[in-house]
Amino acid sequence: VIVAGFVAVLTVLVDFTLRRVGLLPIEASTQAVIIDRLFNDHFLMISFLFSLITVFLVYSLIVFRQRGKEKIAGKFFKSSNKLEVAWTILPLAAVIYFSYIGSLSLAETRKVDPQALEVKVTGRQWSWTFEYPEYGITSDTLQLPVDRQVLLKLTSQDVIHSFWVPEFRVKQDLLPGENLVKELRITPTVIGTYKVRCAELCGTLHAYMESPVVVVSQADFQAWVDEQVKLLNADPVTRGKELVKQNGCTACHSVDGSRLVGPTWKGLFDSQRVLTDGTTVTADEVYLKNSILKPNVQVVEGYPAGVMPQTYLGTLSDKDIADIIAFIKTLQ
Ligand code: CUA
Repeated sequence: VIVAGFVAVLTVLVDFTLRRVGLLPIEASTQAVIIDRLFNDHFLMISFLFSLITVFLVYSLIVFRQRGKEKIAGKFFKSSNKLEVAWTILPLAAVIYFSYIGSLSLAETRKVDPQALEVKVTGRQWSWTFEYPEYGITSDTLQLPVDRQVLLKLTSQDVIHSFWVPEFRVKQDLLPGENLVKELRITPTVIGTYKVRCAELCGTLHAYMESPVVVVSQADFQAWVDEQVKLLNADPVTRGKELVKQNGCTACHSVDGSRLVGPTWKGLFDSQRVLTDGTTVTADEVYLKNSILKPNVQVVEGYPAGVMPQTYLGTLSDKDIADIIAFIKTLQ
């Protein structure tokens, strides 16, 4: 009874302490609550096993220690069928029980809401793109309305990536191949800004493959959609100017002729550019498009290669680039 008492007290203590430490980020989705419940059940079991072993270890050390000068060989046990049966059946029952509640929880996280918002997620080395087919818009941040299920359809353009927002708990690999579209359902419950991280080692910049995930009220989401749709239908120059702002291009490229990190855009279009290999090239549409997508191929004299990241390949559509160039053309 005393030993059992010690085990019970230690179990509660370990479980309580570790839960208090706050091992996990906040629960920001319906699915997170389900996963955490399962996690806590496992945690209680692990705390119990830890306490059982610890208490019996200490108990044996004290009760069966060598006293004085006595020298007695330990008792010899041939075998015990009762023990064998017990330590086969009990762990087996525990494993079956946990697989059962595990599969119930998994099914619960995948519960289908027919009203779900569909978002196509594309991953590539090393960025994310989010498409909203219902509205025809594309974004490099994942905007989600709170309390509405989102059905993510995930695919990769190159290697295996993995979609993971720790606050939502659930995670899904993205596989290359047109027919390998994976699905993930998330119902965000807490308004806030999170981050989607790639959770599968995918090359040099794997650690930086992340995008903001913004959970907003349903009204704010509708406002965002309206704004995006309006922008989509705007004239090329206006849209190009907005895209430039969104992508932060002007942090490195001035529009007034002053020198920043990269070449200024004032007077850039149709000008002659001297490359590091000594050749000259005209800054026409083709040159500008290549410079945006593969900035380190034709390197301009005086502006070292490797400074501008090659992150727009895949995130900017042909129309996006055409509109940005339309804006650059106005800067003469
Ligand atoms: Cu994509 Cu790691």
